[in-house]
Amino acid sequence: MTNKVLVTYATCTGTTVGVAEAIGRTLSEIGALADVLPMREVKDLSTYRAVVAGSAIQDKKWLSEALQFVQTHRTELASKPFAAFLVCMTMAMRNGESYRSFVADFVAPVRALVKPVSEGLFAGALDISKVPTLPNRLMFRLSVIFGVWSEGDHRDWSAIHAWAESLPPKLLA
Ligand SMILES: Cc1cc2nc3c(=O)[nH]c(=O)nc-3n(C[C@H](O)[C@H](O)[C@H](O)COP(=O)(O)O)c2cc1C
Repeated sequence: MTNKVLVTYATCTGTTVGVAEAIGRTLSEIGALADVLPMREVKDLSTYRAVVAGSAIQDKKWLSEALQFVQTHRTELASKPFAAFLVCMTMAMRNGESYRSFVADFVAPVRALVKPVSEGLFAGALDISKVPTLPNRLMFRLSVIFGVWSEGDHRDWSAIHAWAESLPPKLLA
């Protein structure tokens, strides 16, 4: 096994890729080698010392592809340090921080499979033109009209960087 960390992600509209890349970049800058890969390209975890896995949120849940990833690799993930993150619009609401414990519940199905050593909860982005299906696009249009959240990129790079910086002692101790 190498000292490498795998940062792996599942995305629908592309926001989570940038979050995973930022986590991988921060880990590398502070001396922890990291590979950043989409979950669907990951077949074997045995060469990694630790895994950081994250997903976009849809309907208050990790994408099914991401939950399936944890299910498939649960034995191996339980045997090494595993951190989880999510990217969602609730954290991008004006008072998003006050929803932190509500959003933390989105990780419950992951936690039930493998307990993460750390959980990152991040604001994402909303580009309605990229939202799949007309009913969902309508629903998001209404949510913007009613002021639930606003379109645009709400990713908080300092929060992402700070979380990634906190990981090495938990992942590589
Ligand atoms: C169909 C759909 C459902 C969503 N459901 C939720 C949700 O329940 N809660 C939430 O906070 N954000 C929700 N979002 C917002 C996404 O989590 C957010 O836009 C995120 O940045 C998407 O990441 P991605 O671009 O990597 O797919 C939803 C987005 C879509 C497209």
